[in-house]
Amino acid sequence: MARFILACETFAIVLLTSLLTNCTTARGQEKVRGNNNYPPLWDDVPDSLSGFITTHNKTVINPWNYLERMGMYKILLSVTAKYMSSFGPSNTGNALWGLPLQHGWQFITGRLADPSNVSSCGQEFGDPLCISTRSWWSCMNYYLATIPFLGAVEAGFFEDWPFEIKILPPEEHVDNFCYTAADCHVLNPEMMAKWTTFFQLLKKAKELRQINLLPIMSSEEDNIWQRLWIAHVASIETALPKFSDRLAYISAPEAQFGVSWANAVEFIAATHFPTNFNQTNTFQVFLPQRMLLAGDKAPSIPDLSKEQNRALVALDILQKGNKLTGGWLLKVWRRTMCSEKGRAEGRNLLENIVANPDLISSGIRNLLLEYFKNHNCTTIDT
Ligand SMILES: *[C@@H]1O[C@H](CO)[C@@H](O)[C@H](O)[C@H]1NC(C)=O
Ligand SMILES: *[C@@H]1O[C@H](CO)[C@@H](O)[C@H](O)[C@H]1NC(C)=O
Ligand SMILES: *[C@@H]1O[C@H](CO)[C@@H](O)[C@H](O)[C@H]1NC(C)=O
Repeated sequence: MARFILACETFAIVLLTSLLTNCTTARGQEKVRGNNNYPPLWDDVPDSLSGFITTHNKTVINPWNYLERMGMYKILLSVTAKYMSSFGPSNTGNALWGLPLQHGWQFITGRLADPSNVSSCGQEFGDPLCISTRSWWSCMNYYLATIPFLGAVEAGFFEDWPFEIKILPPEEHVDNFCYTAADCHVLNPEMMAKWTTFFQLLKKAKELRQINLLPIMSSEEDNIWQRLWIAHVASIETALPKFSDRLAYISAPEAQFGVSWANAVEFIAATHFPTNFNQTNTFQVFLPQRMLLAGDKAPSIPDLSKEQNRALVALDILQKGNKLTGGWLLKVWRRTMCSEKGRAEGRNLLENIVANPDLISSGIRNLLLEYFKNHNCTTIDT
């Protein structure tokens, strides 16, 4: 029986390898452009709580405005900078960069606007900074913006701020979200606890030692990324079932892309991928820079780059493969990522999957070795 299972596992992995390789081996190594950009309108985003309005001893944050939601990220980057200064110069190594950069991409590609045409929220000629509660991306992102921020509040990062911090509810769908750490513990205690734990860990870490980013991480750095990704995945898993109704407002290819991107993030998470400023900017250019339309069919969407087309295909295969096997693919991946060696190989594969498809086969061979080695794996990632 065990041997049968092993054979099946090997078969499935080989199948996946060949799918990924075939679908992504359009050759031609256009130079991958590193895009070292700050999020849109970054200079207009408040970087401290004093940049928000305080009335009646309450500092009010409206997460349904792009500048204010981004402001929560900018503040988090600023208050956590000293704990991660050894990760890279000028706070570029900060582990939180992945979140605001993703949010900036969502904004600039129109993904935060009202997709139903009912309001002008987020429309260029309406209210361009508005974040719509009808947008699937906006709602998912709330769980990766406001919730982390409240985790930091709970961990005591703003103890010295003399006013109460108040998160404004949206006009619609008030029940879909929570507004204080206490609220969020009621709504989803595990998710909230994971974010608070992450920020408490950072505070305890004091000054982290100098670290090597790749290929092998120091255990202290690995620990930070692990805790961050655990919280990140908890947010996605909480939000995903909540907002499936919002997928009805967007085109079928865009909905499939959103769901497959959320699925891929769980695979990325297991590698403890360092989504710092440079890495996130480098990889974000592979995501479609506009919303997908009903007729779009990767890998032949003419106005998307070859890499963006390939990425869409790979994400699709990964999501469908995982769904078809009832989540088994993610389980195998997580076991492979159980050792630091496995995670280093995993990160390496992710870095090459779109830009250097030639390296996929050898990457997966190395991963297989780690998979079979990690049979006694216990991990706190899940
Ligand atoms: C704000 O708090 C201070 C100190 O607690 C208090 O003296 C003041 O009356 C409060 N202001 C308002 C508008 O509630
Ligand atoms: C990011 O890139 C800049 C410019 O190339 C470099 O100076 C910096 O060290 C990089 N940061 C990290 C964390 O790798
Ligand atoms: C929204 O309106 C624009 C133009 O006003 C139109 O092109 C688009 O198809 C509409 N979208 C939906 C989902 O109705």
